[in-house]
Amino acid sequence: MTNVLKIENLHLSFRGYTGTSKVLHGISLSIKKGERVALVGESGSGKSVTARVILGLLQELRTSKIKGALEFNGQNLNTMHSSDWQALRGTDMSMIFQDPTSSLNPVFTIGDQFVEVLRRRTPKLEIKAALVRAAELLVSVSINDHERVLNAFPFQLSGGMNQRVVIAMALANKPALLIADEPGTALDVTVQAQTLRLMQDLTEQSGTSVLFISHNLGVVREFADRVYVIYRGNIVESGPTKTIFEKPGHAYTQALMSAVPRLTGGGIPEIEDDRVAFLAPSVFHDEVGP
Ligand SMILES: Nc1ncnc2c1ncn2[C@@H]1O[C@H](COP(=O)(O)OP(=O)(O)OP(=O)(O)O)[C@@H](O)[C@H]1O
Ligand SMILES: [Mg+2]
Repeated sequence: MTNVLKIENLHLSFRGYTGTSKVLHGISLSIKKGERVALVGESGSGKSVTARVILGLLQELRTSKIKGALEFNGQNLNTMHSSDWQALRGTDMSMIFQDPTSSLNPVFTIGDQFVEVLRRRTPKLEIKAALVRAAELLVSVSINDHERVLNAFPFQLSGGMNQRVVIAMALANKPALLIADEPGTALDVTVQAQTLRLMQDLTEQSGTSVLFISHNLGVVREFADRVYVIYRGNIVESGPTKTIFEKPGHAYTQALMSAVPRLTGGGIPEIEDDRVAFLAPSVFHDEVGP
């Protein structure tokens, strides 16, 4: 299988008033077509910055310094012109950001924003057809009063609704690579499970690859084919999900696994091999109605 994304020896540092801080120390990562890969690690370990480098967003900052090879669908991203990179974003590469409100424009309605997103892929798409497609996408994320939502501005919707809108927009153009950074944070578990299933369907039906960033190891165990563990800007371990969960090799991965609480019904639990199994939400397998 071919790689959709290949990162080799990626270094990232930021220049600040007090000097330079190194954030990524030569990480390497690859994702094949249709593969679901998780990136897990503690807060501040470098997960979101990795996603932003892949999208070419940090390259535009004057304070960042980036070294390393980046390849997407056989194209060398290092030499790609910023306008070509911009054309990739929202079409072949899309992202669900950790904070949904920051990815929606406050001065345009949700409907206008959907039209813009869909026209990135199909420039001549008529407004009416785009809005019909947008309504279908909203239903797929359990928003049934789509008429109201399409006419609303982001501030007129709840946080969870905005997050579902952002997810629907990210899936709209059937990207080759979807980066999902903590996609379920503001959602209840049923909608979270539905979102995961949508992403799973997309990988199976359209061959989309997913880079899934999450703190929820239970969900990672259910969703991902492979896992990379990042610690202080270094990939300390990677492998098939089953292997990583059953036989974590690196001390940090072992600590990460053992930090997951268990619902055993009393006291501080002993840690066994199936220590994270309980977190795998069973709703993930259940049918969730609209
Ligand atoms: N624009 C920036 N300028 C300077 N430092 C930054 C910038 N963006 C991120 N950092 C630093 O890079 C490090 C990694 O941040 P990142 O957002 O990738 O963490 P994370 O692993 O996504 O954490 P979390 O799980 O909390 O979201 C942090 O120390 C952060 O302060
Ligand atoms: Mg983050």
